[in-house]
Amino acid sequence: MSAVIAEDVLRSAAERWRRIDPLLPEPEEAGSAACGAELLVPAAKGRPAAAGWCRHHQVPPGAPELAWGAAAQFWLTAQVAGDAEEPGIGAALDELLGRWRAHLAAEPATAGQDSQAAVRWPSRDVAGVRALLRHGLQPLTVTAVRPAGRATPGWALDARGVRVRSAGPGDITAVTELAVEVIRFDQHFGSVLLHPHSADAERLAAEQNLARPDPWTWLAERDGQAVGLLIADPPDRADWIASVTSLAPVAYLATLSVRPGERGSGVGTALVAELHRRLDAAGVAVTLLHHGLLNPLSTPFWSRMGYRPLWTRWEIRPARALQ
Ligand SMILES: CC(C)(COP(=O)(O)OP(=O)(O)OC[C@H]1O[C@@H](n2cnc3c(N)ncnc32)[C@H](O)[C@@H]1OP(=O)(O)O)[C@@H](O)C(=O)NCCC(=O)NCCS
Repeated sequence: MSAVIAEDVLRSAAERWRRIDPLLPEPEEAGSAACGAELLVPAAKGRPAAAGWCRHHQVPPGAPELAWGAAAQFWLTAQVAGDAEEPGIGAALDELLGRWRAHLAAEPATAGQDSQAAVRWPSRDVAGVRALLRHGLQPLTVTAVRPAGRATPGWALDARGVRVRSAGPGDITAVTELAVEVIRFDQHFGSVLLHPHSADAERLAAEQNLARPDPWTWLAERDGQAVGLLIADPPDRADWIASVTSLAPVAYLATLSVRPGERGSGVGTALVAELHRRLDAAGVAVTLLHHGLLNPLSTPFWSRMGYRPLWTRWEIRPARALQ
Protein backbone atom coordinates (compact mmCIF):
# COMPACT_ATOMS: atom_id res chain seq x y z
CA MET A 1 0.00 0.00 0.00
CA SER A 2 1.42 3.38 -0.91
CA ALA A 3 1.40 5.16 2.43
CA VAL A 4 1.53 8.57 0.72
CA ILE A 5 -1.59 7.98 -1.40
CA ALA A 6 -3.45 6.49 1.57
CA GLU A 7 -2.56 9.52 3.70
CA ASP A 8 -3.78 11.90 0.97
CA VAL A 9 -7.04 9.97 0.72
CA LEU A 10 -7.58 10.14 4.50
CA ARG A 11 -6.80 13.88 4.62
CA SER A 12 -9.23 14.64 1.79
CA ALA A 13 -11.96 12.37 3.22
CA ALA A 14 -11.55 14.08 6.61
CA GLU A 15 -12.41 17.48 5.07
CA ARG A 16 -15.49 16.07 3.34
CA TRP A 17 -16.69 14.28 6.49
CA ARG A 18 -16.31 17.43 8.60
CA ARG A 19 -18.62 19.25 6.21
CA ILE A 20 -21.26 16.54 5.71
CA ASP A 21 -21.51 15.41 9.34
CA PRO A 22 -19.68 17.01 12.29
CA LEU A 23 -20.46 13.97 14.47
CA LEU A 24 -18.21 11.73 12.35
CA PRO A 25 -14.70 11.08 13.71
CA GLU A 26 -11.47 11.55 11.73
CA PRO A 27 -11.33 8.87 9.00
CA GLU A 28 -8.97 6.02 9.87
CA GLU A 29 -7.31 3.03 8.27
CA ALA A 30 -7.96 -0.40 9.79
CA GLY A 31 -4.44 -0.52 11.31
CA SER A 32 -2.99 -3.78 12.58
CA ALA A 33 -6.36 -5.54 12.27
CA ALA A 34 -6.19 -5.38 8.45
CA CYS A 35 -5.34 -8.54 6.47
CA GLY A 36 -2.69 -6.73 4.40
CA ALA A 37 -4.39 -6.93 0.97
CA GLU A 38 -3.34 -4.08 -1.36
CA LEU A 39 -6.60 -2.20 -2.03
CA LEU A 40 -5.59 1.07 -3.61
CA VAL A 41 -7.30 2.99 -6.41
CA PRO A 42 -5.11 5.74 -7.88
CA ALA A 43 -6.75 8.98 -9.01
CA ALA A 44 -7.70 8.98 -12.70
CA LYS A 45 -9.59 11.33 -15.02
CA GLY A 46 -12.95 12.09 -13.41
CA ARG A 47 -12.22 9.94 -10.38
CA PRO A 48 -10.42 10.70 -7.08
CA ALA A 49 -8.16 8.19 -5.32
CA ALA A 50 -9.47 5.59 -2.86
CA ALA A 51 -7.91 3.24 -0.34
CA GLY A 52 -9.31 0.22 1.47
CA TRP A 53 -8.35 -2.12 4.30
CA CYS A 54 -9.91 -5.56 4.69
CA ARG A 55 -10.35 -7.26 8.06
CA HIS A 56 -11.17 -10.96 8.47
CA HIS A 57 -12.99 -11.95 11.64
CA GLN A 58 -14.06 -15.45 12.69
CA VAL A 59 -16.67 -15.55 15.47
CA PRO A 60 -16.14 -18.59 17.76
CA PRO A 61 -18.93 -21.21 18.00
CA GLY A 62 -21.40 -20.44 20.78
CA ALA A 63 -20.45 -16.74 21.01
CA PRO A 64 -23.37 -14.34 21.72
CA GLU A 65 -22.32 -12.17 18.74
CA LEU A 66 -23.45 -14.94 16.35
CA ALA A 67 -26.99 -13.59 16.81
CA TRP A 68 -25.92 -10.32 15.15
CA GLY A 69 -23.60 -11.47 12.35
CA ALA A 70 -22.26 -14.41 10.33
CA ALA A 71 -19.52 -16.73 11.65
CA ALA A 72 -16.98 -15.67 8.98
CA GLN A 73 -16.95 -11.87 8.61
CA PHE A 74 -15.04 -9.77 6.05
CA TRP A 75 -15.08 -6.02 6.71
CA LEU A 76 -13.92 -3.30 4.36
CA THR A 77 -12.78 0.08 5.69
CA ALA A 78 -13.32 2.17 2.55
CA GLN A 79 -11.90 5.68 2.22
CA VAL A 80 -12.42 7.88 -0.84
CA ALA A 81 -10.89 11.31 -1.50
CA GLY A 82 -12.88 14.27 -2.80
CA ASP A 83 -15.13 17.01 -1.48
CA ALA A 84 -18.88 16.61 -1.16
CA GLU A 85 -19.51 17.98 -4.68
CA GLU A 86 -16.87 15.73 -6.32
CA PRO A 87 -18.78 13.79 -9.01
CA GLY A 88 -16.30 10.89 -9.10
CA ILE A 89 -16.67 9.63 -5.50
CA GLY A 90 -19.06 6.87 -6.57
CA ALA A 91 -16.74 5.78 -9.41
CA ALA A 92 -13.76 5.57 -7.05
CA LEU A 93 -15.73 3.56 -4.49
CA ASP A 94 -17.03 1.34 -7.30
CA GLU A 95 -13.45 0.58 -8.37
CA LEU A 96 -12.38 -0.07 -4.75
CA LEU A 97 -15.28 -2.49 -4.20
CA GLY A 98 -14.31 -4.31 -7.42
CA ARG A 99 -10.77 -4.81 -6.06
CA TRP A 100 -12.14 -6.00 -2.74
CA ARG A 101 -14.37 -8.48 -4.59
CA ALA A 102 -11.32 -9.91 -6.38
CA HIS A 103 -9.54 -10.24 -3.01
CA LEU A 104 -12.53 -12.02 -1.41
CA ALA A 105 -12.89 -14.38 -4.38
CA ALA A 106 -9.45 -15.79 -3.52
CA GLU A 107 -10.36 -16.45 0.14
CA PRO A 108 -11.86 -19.96 0.62
CA ALA A 109 -13.91 -18.92 3.71
CA THR A 110 -15.96 -16.42 1.66
CA ALA A 111 -17.70 -19.33 -0.09
CA GLY A 112 -19.23 -20.64 3.15
CA GLN A 113 -22.97 -19.97 3.59
CA ASP A 114 -22.36 -18.57 7.09
CA SER A 115 -20.17 -15.71 5.86
CA GLN A 116 -20.71 -12.02 5.19
CA ALA A 117 -18.99 -9.13 3.49
CA ALA A 118 -19.73 -5.81 5.17
CA VAL A 119 -18.89 -2.13 4.76
CA ARG A 120 -19.65 0.61 7.29
CA TRP A 121 -20.21 3.84 5.35
CA PRO A 122 -21.17 7.28 6.76
CA SER A 123 -24.94 7.59 6.39
CA ARG A 124 -24.69 11.18 5.10
CA ASP A 125 -21.90 10.44 2.59
CA VAL A 126 -24.59 9.94 -0.01
CA ALA A 127 -22.22 10.04 -2.99
CA GLY A 128 -21.27 6.40 -2.28
CA VAL A 129 -24.74 4.88 -2.08
CA ARG A 130 -25.22 3.88 -5.72
CA ALA A 131 -21.82 2.16 -5.87
CA LEU A 132 -22.64 0.12 -2.74
CA LEU A 133 -25.98 -0.93 -4.26
CA ARG A 134 -24.33 -1.82 -7.58
CA HIS A 135 -22.15 -4.39 -5.80
CA GLY A 136 -25.20 -6.09 -4.29
CA LEU A 137 -24.65 -4.74 -0.76
CA GLN A 138 -27.78 -4.11 1.32
CA PRO A 139 -28.15 -1.32 3.92
CA LEU A 140 -29.41 -3.37 6.87
CA THR A 141 -28.19 -1.77 10.10
CA VAL A 142 -27.76 1.80 11.28
CA THR A 143 -25.56 3.20 14.03
CA ALA A 144 -27.75 6.06 15.26
CA VAL A 145 -26.69 8.96 17.44
CA ARG A 146 -28.47 11.32 19.83
CA PRO A 147 -26.63 14.47 20.94
CA ALA A 148 -27.20 15.34 24.61
CA GLY A 149 -30.18 17.46 25.59
CA ARG A 150 -32.52 16.61 22.73
CA ALA A 151 -36.07 16.56 24.05
CA THR A 152 -37.63 13.14 24.68
CA PRO A 153 -41.42 12.88 24.33
CA GLY A 154 -43.19 12.17 27.62
CA TRP A 155 -46.40 10.25 28.36
CA ALA A 156 -48.68 10.19 31.41
CA LEU A 157 -47.60 6.72 32.41
CA ASP A 158 -48.79 6.58 35.97
CA ALA A 159 -52.38 6.63 34.77
CA ARG A 160 -51.78 3.41 32.90
CA GLY A 161 -50.04 1.76 35.83
CA VAL A 162 -46.57 1.40 34.28
CA ARG A 163 -43.62 1.79 36.64
CA VAL A 164 -39.93 1.94 35.63
CA ARG A 165 -37.36 0.59 38.10
CA SER A 166 -33.71 -0.51 38.13
CA ALA A 167 -33.21 -4.24 37.57
CA GLY A 168 -31.20 -6.40 39.98
CA PRO A 169 -29.97 -9.97 40.45
CA GLY A 170 -33.55 -11.18 41.07
CA ASP A 171 -34.58 -10.20 37.51
CA ILE A 172 -32.39 -12.55 35.47
CA THR A 173 -35.29 -14.51 33.94
CA ALA A 174 -37.33 -11.42 32.94
CA VAL A 175 -34.24 -9.67 31.52
CA THR A 176 -33.25 -12.79 29.54
CA GLU A 177 -36.74 -13.27 28.08
CA LEU A 178 -37.04 -9.66 26.96
CA ALA A 179 -33.51 -9.63 25.51
CA VAL A 180 -34.25 -12.80 23.50
CA GLU A 181 -37.47 -11.16 22.25
CA VAL A 182 -35.43 -8.41 20.49
CA ILE A 183 -33.37 -11.04 18.65
CA ARG A 184 -36.52 -12.97 17.75
CA PHE A 185 -38.19 -9.86 16.30
CA ASP A 186 -35.09 -8.55 14.51
CA GLN A 187 -34.74 -11.85 12.62
CA HIS A 188 -37.28 -10.50 10.13
CA PHE A 189 -34.86 -7.88 8.82
CA GLY A 190 -32.00 -9.88 7.35
CA SER A 191 -28.93 -9.66 9.57
CA VAL A 192 -30.01 -11.25 12.88
CA LEU A 193 -30.49 -14.92 13.74
CA LEU A 194 -31.78 -16.55 16.94
CA HIS A 195 -29.43 -19.53 17.43
CA PRO A 196 -30.18 -22.51 19.70
CA HIS A 197 -27.53 -21.17 22.11
CA SER A 198 -28.77 -17.54 22.04
CA ALA A 199 -31.04 -17.83 25.11
CA ASP A 200 -28.21 -19.35 27.20
CA ALA A 201 -25.81 -16.64 25.99
CA GLU A 202 -28.33 -13.91 26.92
CA ARG A 203 -28.91 -15.49 30.36
CA LEU A 204 -25.17 -15.55 31.05
CA ALA A 205 -24.88 -11.90 29.94
CA ALA A 206 -27.82 -10.99 32.23
CA GLU A 207 -26.25 -12.83 35.19
CA GLN A 208 -22.96 -11.00 34.73
CA ASN A 209 -24.55 -7.60 34.13
CA LEU A 210 -27.04 -7.76 37.00
CA ALA A 211 -24.27 -8.73 39.43
CA ARG A 212 -22.78 -5.22 39.01
CA PRO A 213 -23.53 -2.62 41.69
CA ASP A 214 -25.10 -0.38 39.01
CA PRO A 215 -26.06 -2.46 35.97
CA TRP A 216 -27.66 0.40 33.96
CA THR A 217 -30.62 -1.93 33.32
CA TRP A 218 -34.23 -0.90 33.80
CA LEU A 219 -37.50 -2.83 33.74
CA ALA A 220 -40.95 -1.39 33.07
CA GLU A 221 -43.63 -3.19 35.08
CA ARG A 222 -47.39 -3.34 34.82
CA ASP A 223 -49.24 -5.05 37.69
CA GLY A 224 -45.90 -6.37 38.95
CA GLN A 225 -45.11 -8.05 35.59
CA ALA A 226 -42.06 -7.02 33.56
CA VAL A 227 -43.30 -5.64 30.21
CA GLY A 228 -40.24 -3.72 28.98
CA LEU A 229 -36.45 -3.74 29.27
CA LEU A 230 -33.69 -1.22 28.59
CA ILE A 231 -29.95 -1.98 28.95
CA ALA A 232 -27.24 0.66 28.42
CA ASP A 233 -23.45 0.93 28.68
CA PRO A 234 -22.38 4.06 30.61
CA PRO A 235 -19.27 5.90 29.34
CA ASP A 236 -16.81 3.74 31.30
CA ARG A 237 -18.20 0.63 29.56
CA ALA A 238 -18.76 2.19 26.10
CA ASP A 239 -15.09 2.57 25.09
CA TRP A 240 -15.49 -0.14 22.47
CA ILE A 241 -17.73 2.13 20.36
CA ALA A 242 -16.40 5.59 21.30
CA SER A 243 -14.25 5.91 18.15
CA VAL A 244 -17.26 6.03 15.79
CA THR A 245 -18.04 9.66 16.66
CA SER A 246 -16.22 12.96 17.19
CA LEU A 247 -17.82 13.77 20.56
CA ALA A 248 -17.06 12.33 24.00
CA PRO A 249 -18.06 10.97 26.43
CA VAL A 250 -20.37 8.46 24.75
CA ALA A 251 -22.92 6.00 26.12
CA TYR A 252 -24.41 3.03 24.28
CA LEU A 253 -28.03 1.92 24.36
CA ALA A 254 -27.65 -1.85 23.96
CA THR A 255 -31.19 -3.25 24.27
CA LEU A 256 -34.75 -1.96 24.23
CA SER A 257 -37.55 -4.50 24.25
CA VAL A 258 -41.28 -4.31 24.95
CA ARG A 259 -43.52 -7.40 25.16
CA PRO A 260 -45.58 -7.78 21.94
CA GLY A 261 -48.99 -7.15 23.55
CA GLU A 262 -47.72 -4.02 25.32
CA ARG A 263 -46.25 -2.15 22.34
CA GLY A 264 -47.62 1.24 21.31
CA SER A 265 -48.76 2.26 24.79
CA GLY A 266 -45.74 4.32 25.84
CA VAL A 267 -43.62 1.68 27.62
CA GLY A 268 -40.62 2.14 25.28
CA THR A 269 -40.85 5.92 25.57
CA ALA A 270 -40.93 5.72 29.38
CA LEU A 271 -37.78 3.56 29.50
CA VAL A 272 -35.89 5.80 27.09
CA ALA A 273 -36.98 8.95 28.96
CA GLU A 274 -35.56 7.45 32.18
CA LEU A 275 -32.22 6.72 30.49
CA HIS A 276 -32.01 10.15 28.82
CA ARG A 277 -32.63 11.90 32.14
CA ARG A 278 -29.73 10.00 33.62
CA LEU A 279 -27.42 10.52 30.61
CA ASP A 280 -28.09 14.24 30.33
CA ALA A 281 -27.51 14.69 34.07
CA ALA A 282 -24.22 12.76 33.82
CA GLY A 283 -22.92 15.07 31.06
CA VAL A 284 -22.81 12.36 28.37
CA ALA A 285 -22.24 14.10 25.02
CA VAL A 286 -23.81 11.52 22.70
CA THR A 287 -25.71 8.26 22.97
CA LEU A 288 -25.26 5.62 20.29
CA LEU A 289 -27.29 2.56 19.37
CA HIS A 290 -27.75 0.06 16.54
CA HIS A 291 -31.08 -0.67 14.90
CA GLY A 292 -32.31 -2.57 11.90
CA LEU A 293 -33.00 -0.10 9.12
CA LEU A 294 -35.93 -2.23 7.89
CA ASN A 295 -37.49 -2.61 11.37
CA PRO A 296 -40.79 -0.70 11.03
CA LEU A 297 -41.18 -0.38 14.81
CA SER A 298 -37.71 0.73 15.81
CA THR A 299 -36.74 3.06 12.92
CA PRO A 300 -39.53 5.66 13.46
CA PHE A 301 -39.37 5.13 17.23
CA TRP A 302 -35.66 6.07 17.42
CA SER A 303 -36.19 9.08 15.20
CA ARG A 304 -38.92 10.29 17.59
CA MET A 305 -36.57 9.73 20.53
CA GLY A 306 -34.00 12.12 19.00
CA TYR A 307 -31.66 9.67 17.20
CA ARG A 308 -30.53 9.99 13.59
CA PRO A 309 -28.31 7.84 11.34
CA LEU A 310 -24.53 8.28 11.68
CA TRP A 311 -23.23 5.12 9.98
CA THR A 312 -24.97 2.61 7.75
CA ARG A 313 -23.77 -1.00 7.65
CA TRP A 314 -24.03 -2.49 4.17
CA GLU A 315 -23.71 -6.25 3.89
CA ILE A 316 -24.14 -9.30 1.72
CA ARG A 317 -24.24 -13.01 2.56
CA PRO A 318 -22.42 -15.18 1.70
CA ALA A 319 -19.36 -12.95 1.29
CA ARG A 320 -18.57 -14.50 -2.13
CA ALA A 321 -21.88 -13.08 -3.45
CA LEU A 322 -20.36 -9.57 -3.56
CA GLN A 323 -20.77 -8.36 -7.15
C1 LIG B 1 -39.40 -0.47 19.35
C2 LIG B 1 -40.12 -0.68 20.69
C3 LIG B 1 -39.10 -0.94 21.77
C4 LIG B 1 -40.90 0.58 21.01
O1 LIG B 1 -41.54 0.41 22.27
P1 LIG B 1 -43.09 0.82 22.47
O2 LIG B 1 -43.40 0.61 23.89
O3 LIG B 1 -43.92 0.10 21.48
O4 LIG B 1 -42.99 2.36 22.13
P2 LIG B 1 -44.05 3.49 22.48
O5 LIG B 1 -45.37 2.89 22.81
O6 LIG B 1 -43.43 4.34 23.50
O7 LIG B 1 -44.11 4.26 21.14
C5 LIG B 1 -44.54 3.55 19.99
C6 LIG B 1 -45.81 4.13 19.37
O8 LIG B 1 -46.88 4.27 20.26
C7 LIG B 1 -47.24 5.65 20.34
N1 LIG B 1 -47.58 5.89 21.72
C8 LIG B 1 -46.79 5.94 22.76
N2 LIG B 1 -47.48 6.18 23.87
C9 LIG B 1 -48.75 6.28 23.53
C10 LIG B 1 -49.93 6.52 24.23
N3 LIG B 1 -49.96 6.71 25.54
N4 LIG B 1 -51.06 6.54 23.55
C11 LIG B 1 -51.08 6.35 22.23
N5 LIG B 1 -49.98 6.13 21.52
C12 LIG B 1 -48.82 6.09 22.16
C13 LIG B 1 -46.03 6.39 19.91
O9 LIG B 1 -46.32 7.68 19.43
C14 LIG B 1 -45.59 5.49 18.83
O10 LIG B 1 -46.39 5.75 17.71
P3 LIG B 1 -46.31 5.06 16.30
O11 LIG B 1 -47.34 4.02 16.33
O12 LIG B 1 -46.56 6.15 15.32
O13 LIG B 1 -44.92 4.48 16.16
C15 LIG B 1 -41.11 -1.88 20.64
O14 LIG B 1 -41.97 -1.71 19.54
C16 LIG B 1 -40.44 -3.23 20.53
O15 LIG B 1 -40.12 -3.87 21.54
N6 LIG B 1 -40.23 -3.73 19.29
C17 LIG B 1 -39.67 -5.05 19.07
C18 LIG B 1 -38.21 -5.10 19.44
C19 LIG B 1 -37.44 -3.96 18.82
O16 LIG B 1 -37.64 -3.61 17.68
N7 LIG B 1 -36.55 -3.39 19.63
C20 LIG B 1 -35.71 -2.29 19.20
C21 LIG B 1 -34.48 -2.86 18.65
S1 LIG B 1 -33.36 -1.58 18.21
